[in-house]
Amino acid sequence: MNAQLTAAGTNPELDAFWMPFTANRQFKAHPRLLARAQGMYYWTADGRQVLDGVAGLWCVNAGHGRSEITEAVTKQLTTMEFAPTFQMGHPIAFELANRLAKIAPPGLDRIFFANSGSESVDTALKIAIAYHRARGAAQRTRLIGREKGYHGVGFGGMSVGGMVNNRKFFGSSMLPGVDHLPHTLDIERNAFSRGLPQWGAQFANELERLIALHDASTIAAVIVEPVSGSAGVVLPPVGYLKRLREICDKHDILLIFDEVITGFGRVGKPFAAQAFDVTPDLMTTAKGLTNGAIPMGAVFSQRKIYDAFMQGPENSIELFHGYTYSAHPVACAAALATLDIYVKEGLLTRAASLSAHWENAVHSLRGLPHVIDLRNYGLIGAVEMEPRQGKPGARGFDVFLKCFERGVMVRQTGDTIAMAPPLIIEPAQIEHLVETLGQVIRETA
Ligand SMILES: Cc1ncc(COP(=O)(O)O)c(C=O)c1O
Repeated sequence: MNAQLTAAGTNPELDAFWMPFTANRQFKAHPRLLARAQGMYYWTADGRQVLDGVAGLWCVNAGHGRSEITEAVTKQLTTMEFAPTFQMGHPIAFELANRLAKIAPPGLDRIFFANSGSESVDTALKIAIAYHRARGAAQRTRLIGREKGYHGVGFGGMSVGGMVNNRKFFGSSMLPGVDHLPHTLDIERNAFSRGLPQWGAQFANELERLIALHDASTIAAVIVEPVSGSAGVVLPPVGYLKRLREICDKHDILLIFDEVITGFGRVGKPFAAQAFDVTPDLMTTAKGLTNGAIPMGAVFSQRKIYDAFMQGPENSIELFHGYTYSAHPVACAAALATLDIYVKEGLLTRAASLSAHWENAVHSLRGLPHVIDLRNYGLIGAVEMEPRQGKPGARGFDVFLKCFERGVMVRQTGDTIAMAPPLIIEPAQIEHLVETLGQVIRETA
């Protein structure tokens, strides 16, 4: 690719790609092009090595360039590149579902495949509504999300999500009948908590208020991320998720955990549901499922939900939903090879053994200029900085850019810097990541 800039400082070769969730003009004037990756590192188009502090985009949990995945994908492409899963099947789709069911939280052993986190979320929301209908409670259509929630960019996920910029540009084109719980970020009370914040379980009681307002008989499901990443890492206060579970049980409301970023070892267990010992009714996943190599999503469902659909004449379709690429054979091959790596290298639990070291590293940034909170859990970390007067997000963006210039890739949301490295990270690389971030923060006004 020709990286030559014109006199106007633009590069016409970069014009055609309308980049997602990107400041297109800034990027195209100062491109950050990644050309190759191996292990914990990327290399830029001009040959600089960059430590990957965010597992690509929270997905490359086993690190980059895994030849086992390449081989499995290549083999599948040459054997059978595509096969439909509408009224047909192919063996590795069933093999993958069985393998996933074995590592799933208790009872979540019915798996529906999609191609992304957004599709998984919309699938789970549709299953929840159709489930109530199937068992004779068709009036239960309301969905409850949460402020600061991120559930992808489909109309369903956007509607239950709670990030203002992801919503405000799209007018009132939201699903009707959606309400939101308050978020659980309380910096005043919980700043610099190590691990889960102690204060805030009572935020879950707000669900009782929403139920009192709408009546439980109208509510299909509550969807939350056990740990949210995109809004800048928001952790569940101790006891919060258990309380949500109790309230949902009491009122016959389904609880959906969106584990698109927490799934596949990020928090020290295969899934956050296991780490927090709270079992949802539906669980959405993607990202780490294939180590980011091939797009894929999977919705894990309690057997009782699947069984509720299995009625009527045997030759009738039970759920009118699916994607051409649901359980795409190449994605299945990538996922199976990924699971083999996770199991062989103990990556589904490695974050637990590194988390104390990680916590100390993240909290070593306490006292740096403008740092108003530090948050950590599993192999997730966040540094929250005070916004510049009248310029929210500017400091965060500067820190993100300077880190990249110094050879460290982190993720920025507003004035929060998030880190979620591949689960193969070594302690010395944790030090390098956090020390570089610390130096940059010190130098950024
Ligand atoms: C919790 C959560 N849900 C859903 C999504 C959307 O996933 P995708 O970008 O694959 O559609 C994300 C992406 O970051 C996420 O963090």
